[in-house]
Amino acid sequence: MKEKLQQIKQAAFAELQTPDCDTEAVRVKYLGKKGELTAVLRGMGALTPEERPVVGQMANDVRAEIEAALTTVVAAAKEKALNDRLVREKLDVTMPGKCERVGHQHPLTRAQREMEEIFIGMGFEIAEGPEVEYDYYNFQALNIPENHPARDTQDTFYITDKILLRSQTSPVQVRVMEKQSPPIRVISPGRVYRSDALDATHSPLFHQMEGLVVDKGITMSDLKGTLETFARKMFGDKTEIRFRPHHFPFTEPSAEVDVSCFVCGGKGCRVCKGEGWIEILGAGMVHPFVLQNCGIDPEVYSGFAFGMGLERVTMTRYGIDDIRLFYENDERFLKQF
Ligand code: PHE
Repeated sequence: MKEKLQQIKQAAFAELQTPDCDTEAVRVKYLGKKGELTAVLRGMGALTPEERPVVGQMANDVRAEIEAALTTVVAAAKEKALNDRLVREKLDVTMPGKCERVGHQHPLTRAQREMEEIFIGMGFEIAEGPEVEYDYYNFQALNIPENHPARDTQDTFYITDKILLRSQTSPVQVRVMEKQSPPIRVISPGRVYRSDALDATHSPLFHQMEGLVVDKGITMSDLKGTLETFARKMFGDKTEIRFRPHHFPFTEPSAEVDVSCFVCGGKGCRVCKGEGWIEILGAGMVHPFVLQNCGIDPEVYSGFAFGMGLERVTMTRYGIDDIRLFYENDERFLKQF
């Protein structure tokens, strides 16, 4: 029996030495319930009482040795696997990386955000309105009845007789005034449409930003101060503004507003086409009829409104000479901002 135990031990050790040995199979074969060592222990009944503890001890020793050998081989196999993996997945951190290309905001979006920030800083809130609009909001409520000549200059795309693509952001004024009572201080940026042919200065789709303030005692000087503050933040501290009388059906009095050329400072140059001034927006005191249409008493409240073209402001600001560049998504253009 002692020889048998020695044989088992040697056989197990021999198997464990073979390369890529299946350690689990070895464990089952020698130490498992139906394994060789167990078989020997079962036969111990045939031994004399003196021999039994001796052979028992020996069997335990052999088991312990095989177990120890197994552990060593398993650990070695694990380490080898790890090392192989480390070699296989070796990373050269000194290799040059692949550069991810990161985009940025469109120049119009940037200009819009910048303008929003300026007005938010003056206490304005942002209001939005639909691009598909009723004739009522785009024209009627703004004091532009059917057949009014102002409809010609703002010819747009009609969905039905009564529904159109808004030609200006001014309908948002009406929507805000209908819902909210004064004090009101909002700007509303967004897309507008006109049935104009596309050229260097016209596009059937462009963007405007409207401004509206209604409260007790609002005067033209509030309008001037607001626009001057805006112009200086947008175009530089030295910017002057100039009001020229104009006509809009929904404001009275109305004006077109110019900023002094921020390139030449007013002397006249290419950017201002020798004028010294650049027109950027239309504005005026909200017409009493418009207030009335929206349920606001013009005897108690007054207000001012202004509207500017985002493209126009952005083109002026960055010296862009063709409006089409904004919509072509040519990276060579976009990358410059
Ligand atoms: N909505 C006018 C336009 O598109 C601009 C404007 C807005 C004028 C508000 C006065 C007051 O031409």
